[in-house]
Amino acid sequence: MKKRANFFRHLHPPMIRQRTLQPSSTLGLGIVCLTCFLVLVATGVTLLLYYMPYQEAAYDRILHIVTTLRYGRLIRNLHFLAANVLIVAAISHLARVFFMGSYQGRWLNWTYGLILLSLVFFSNYTGYILPWDQTSYWAIKVGSNLAAYIPGLGPSFKSFLLGGEDISQETLVRSLALHVSVLPFLWSILISLHLWRIRKDGGLAAPEDESTERLPSSPWLFRAELTAGLFTLSLLLSLAFFIDAPLSSRADPLHPPNPAKAPWYFVGIQEMVSYSATLGGVVIPVLIGVFLFFAPFLDRNRQAGIWFGRGRLTLNLLLGLILLSQVLMIVVGQWLRTKNWVFKFPW
Ligand code: HEM
Repeated sequence: MKKRANFFRHLHPPMIRQRTLQPSSTLGLGIVCLTCFLVLVATGVTLLLYYMPYQEAAYDRILHIVTTLRYGRLIRNLHFLAANVLIVAAISHLARVFFMGSYQGRWLNWTYGLILLSLVFFSNYTGYILPWDQTSYWAIKVGSNLAAYIPGLGPSFKSFLLGGEDISQETLVRSLALHVSVLPFLWSILISLHLWRIRKDGGLAAPEDESTERLPSSPWLFRAELTAGLFTLSLLLSLAFFIDAPLSSRADPLHPPNPAKAPWYFVGIQEMVSYSATLGGVVIPVLIGVFLFFAPFLDRNRQAGIWFGRGRLTLNLLLGLILLSQVLMIVVGQWLRTKNWVFKFPW
């Protein structure tokens, strides 16, 4: 018991600054991400008890889960919702850290965060194919073609993802293995490092001139974390009663839908590729990645922990522009593209 308490103390600071408790300093987004991850593990393990990674069986097993099993639909809905809320929450968390300059003196944890974000996308992507329905089959087909644009690695990364040149039985087994073992394992390590690093860095970033008066974590921080966690859980549960995880008809490799779209979080890239393959598929994504990675070094303003601090205008404008343009690309790709990728307003 004592050992476990010590281990927990290693990940969690015993004392915190008073400002850490103010909702405006974190918006609780790190805890929202953490709660989504825990919900994903709990629901994922349950789904795994009934799932089979075979082309002939996968779709029927999902139907069985949602139509026959008690709470099966609810658990699948929760898994789907937590995965999607996590994408939005992780990007919002990144934006809050960025706009507060909280990566100052924390570049290592910022980098762990960027790796975590890649794991969020990768986990979502490998889970997408598992229901083996028409939407997921073709979304993964489009997605893997987009992966081929990654400079240098593209074609080999695509065949690594698919377990060959095209989607097959091999893809299902590989996606399941990555989705339920390799990626959650990496997640656990990275999340532990991320939380431990916050403590090593002296708690959340704060302006240097701020009073350093500290409070014990127990009970204040625990209460705040519990509130954010329970809020996320109730949000996911309430949504799960009303929003069903999608399941279209069984995958049909011979009849592509028109248009075939990537998963929504990659539709922005698909939209950009429709203008220019090199610019949209390679140059812009690489530039965004490089910008995010080097942001802590580009920032000359040493004030951390302040929303939209002075002297950071250009960087903030750049990130704002990136986020807005990506949202725009996703909206256009997802809702304003019809047959043959023709642009059309729905009204
Ligand atoms: C996806 C899973 C993630 C989880 C579970 C997670 C969890 C957390 C938690 C609990 C905190 C402390 C409270 C808070 O800021 O809300 C935190 C802080 C932090 N996170 Fe994350 N995070 C994740 C992703 C990211 C990403 C994508 C980035 C950025 C690239 C990032 C960078 C940071 C940094 C630099 C801090 C310290 C901020 C400060 O000192 O104010 N994290 N994270």
